[in-house]
Amino acid sequence: MTHTKRFQPSEILLMGPGPSCVYPAVYRALGLPTLGHLDPDFIDLMDDTAERLRTAFGTRNRLTMALSGTGSAGMEASFVNFVEPGDRVLVAANGVFGMRMADVAERLGAAVDRLDFEWGKPVDVETVRARIESEPPYTMVGVVHAETSTGALTDVSAIGRIVRESGALYLVDTVTGLGGLPVAVDEWGADIVYSGTQKCLSCPPGLAPFTCSDRAVAKLSSRTGKVPNWYLDLSMIVQYWSGDGARAYHHTAPINMIYGLNAALGCLLDEGIEAVIARHRNAHERLVNGLEDLGLGMLVAPEHRLPMLNSVTVPDGVDEADIRKRLRREHHIEIGAGLGPLAGKVWRIGLMGHTARAENVDRLLDAFRDSLSGCV
Ligand SMILES: Cc1ncc(COP(=O)(O)O)c(C=O)c1O
Repeated sequence: MTHTKRFQPSEILLMGPGPSCVYPAVYRALGLPTLGHLDPDFIDLMDDTAERLRTAFGTRNRLTMALSGTGSAGMEASFVNFVEPGDRVLVAANGVFGMRMADVAERLGAAVDRLDFEWGKPVDVETVRARIESEPPYTMVGVVHAETSTGALTDVSAIGRIVRESGALYLVDTVTGLGGLPVAVDEWGADIVYSGTQKCLSCPPGLAPFTCSDRAVAKLSSRTGKVPNWYLDLSMIVQYWSGDGARAYHHTAPINMIYGLNAALGCLLDEGIEAVIARHRNAHERLVNGLEDLGLGMLVAPEHRLPMLNSVTVPDGVDEADIRKRLRREHHIEIGAGLGPLAGKVWRIGLMGHTARAENVDRLLDAFRDSLSGCV
């Protein structure tokens, strides 16, 4: 018996909530020869990747790296390193990922206050202010920049000013924002920020870009106990990601994924961050106009919409799942379903990274027109 039969995935246009279409340059980078994880050329590439991440994140934070694991590893690392049992944590939740933050923090024994907001709306800045001002000090306040489960954008800059004044560490999830929206970690006053590779960076899933401020590092150094998770312990991982001298082995880095991320950041920086952001915005406007012509409406109010994640209301009488299946089967396009209370009520259309182009929008609109004919 031989095992020569190779898996050959169909060519699917990825227009869901991630992964997005991968840049050709990233695929080429992923296929390059694997080096040793302590090879000097690879260490140089890690340094270059960290520097590119600093530019993308808008930070000069020394501790900036790509953690092994998807975006959730970034979330987990944020709590496991900087929160100790009994620490008071405030999480503002307006969708799945804020709720996940609270869950992660609770599992670590933090005293979590979850401040819930309506799905499809942003986190309300004044409500966060009122909660912070009326409570004993929090150790950390966490918020999601771009809530992928609904398509709502939160003003993380305004919340940052309030959190900074309170003295708490400020945690921001920009898994979906990085590379598609302005991200300015230092200006926001954010202490801990993570992202993922498979959204607007257009690299396959597998790494969590991560950055944290010196204030966060000080909290890590002053912990009373060890970080309760060996794999994500930043005090050890940093010995591998930084320093002029020898790098200490922690775990074997996913070498080729780091080649891929480096190339993805190269695509972002070569095109120019502002130009890429404008490309996302233009694709979003084209999509919304086209959907309106088809009689379809959006879940989120115009001023709070994410360009890269568009929640479209399913019209009465239309079978949400059936349309998604037809798009995949007949048009080779993937879009996403609604989650939680939005299941069956919205489609989630991603315009992330390499996917965010007029020709993809037009192809999807044609496919929607065809699939919906006779339904609306
Ligand atoms: C806002 C947000 N945070 C966190 C995550 C978790 O990332 P991952 O699925 O890569 O672990 C996602 C994934 O969709 C996300 O959209």
